[in-house]
Amino acid sequence: MRQVWITKAGPPEVLQVKEAPDPVPKAGELRVRVEAAGVNFADIMGRMGLYPDLPGIPIVVGYEVGGRVDAVGDGVDRGWMGRDVFAMTRFGGYSDVVTVPENQVFARPNGMSAETGAAIPVNYFTAYMLVVVMGGLRRGETMLVHSAGGGVGIAATQLAKNLGATVIGTASKGKHEFLRGIGVDHLIDYTKEDFEQRAREITAGRGVELILDAVGGDSFKKGYRSLSATGRLGMFGMSSAATGKQRSVTSLLRTIASMPWLQFTPISLIDKNRGVFGVNLGHLWGEVTRIRGWAGDLLDLWAKGVVRPHIDKTFPFAEAAAAHHYIQDRRNLGKVLLTP
Ligand SMILES: NC(=O)c1ccc[n+]([C@@H]2O[C@H](COP(=O)([O-])OP(=O)(O)OC[C@H]3O[C@@H](n4cnc5c(N)ncnc54)[C@H](OP(=O)(O)O)[C@@H]3O)[C@@H](O)[C@H]2O)c1
Repeated sequence: MRQVWITKAGPPEVLQVKEAPDPVPKAGELRVRVEAAGVNFADIMGRMGLYPDLPGIPIVVGYEVGGRVDAVGDGVDRGWMGRDVFAMTRFGGYSDVVTVPENQVFARPNGMSAETGAAIPVNYFTAYMLVVVMGGLRRGETMLVHSAGGGVGIAATQLAKNLGATVIGTASKGKHEFLRGIGVDHLIDYTKEDFEQRAREITAGRGVELILDAVGGDSFKKGYRSLSATGRLGMFGMSSAATGKQRSVTSLLRTIASMPWLQFTPISLIDKNRGVFGVNLGHLWGEVTRIRGWAGDLLDLWAKGVVRPHIDKTFPFAEAAAAHHYIQDRRNLGKVLLTP
């Protein structure tokens, strides 16, 4: 098999293709011939040495793939053989062959490409948790999503619009036209405008019912202040710690220091009728049965045309470094994939 390795912590050029013998599925596992592998911001943080979940470097990262089953281990239904699937991989997705526990594999419905399948797990399971499971977004409410043009931002927008909510998105200016086209009602160019002030203006001073924030640091403080009564702040990352293309301890410490360590107190939450919550899909490996339930809902929404991953660009394995640059240069609109 061919795999893209993070050979050491550093800039995108540390990603290198290497060959190894094909893996053999163990009992309870399936083997997938990968046609597309998702690239996520977590992979970038991992490459920079900023991702605490990484078991170590060198490593093959990658949380999701789309492809076809070509072997099954003991105890696995042979009906899986030859099926088109997508799967959640716990690292190792940047490979042309992966073995995966059966409960992390999902049959792809007719008409869903391997690329679309690979674009679903991380972005849509995360968005579903944020918007539906924990955010409890309802018709008529307003949701503000940061990095609206990223994979999670687009997924969250599709779910929120389907629920009948108003969406405010922050994104680089060049993404605004596309985002307006998928239903984002109000756009904020965070490089020029203050989102806290704009959110107040847009909601006529009432504040926002749900905020999705993976920027972190000071942005959490401003978001908390922007909530309406009954408003919820969903925190799920800290991309502001990734300033350059290599780890900067100063940026990391600055982001951590600017977190709202003192703002969310039990008394302030009670007094203001507000909620705060965190999401980390990568810490739900013990809850795969629940995730499968969410996947069922999302596949129903796919059949209805609501869930529509936007695949921006596909890079061959040999150009994995360019894929990481593309995201870190803030050029992606939706999903970036690797193909063997
Ligand atoms: N906790 C979880 O379970 C979980 C799961 C998935 C994703 N996440 C987090 O959610 C965030 C978005 O993920 P995604 O997959 O949607 O991202 P993505 O598709 O890779 O989007 C990247 C976009 O984020 C924006 N951005 C904000 N800060 C950035 C920075 N410091 N460097 C580069 N780009 C930055 C840029 O868009 P603009 O310039 O237009 O804003 C960029 O185009 C990431 O922080 C990721 O770690 C968390």
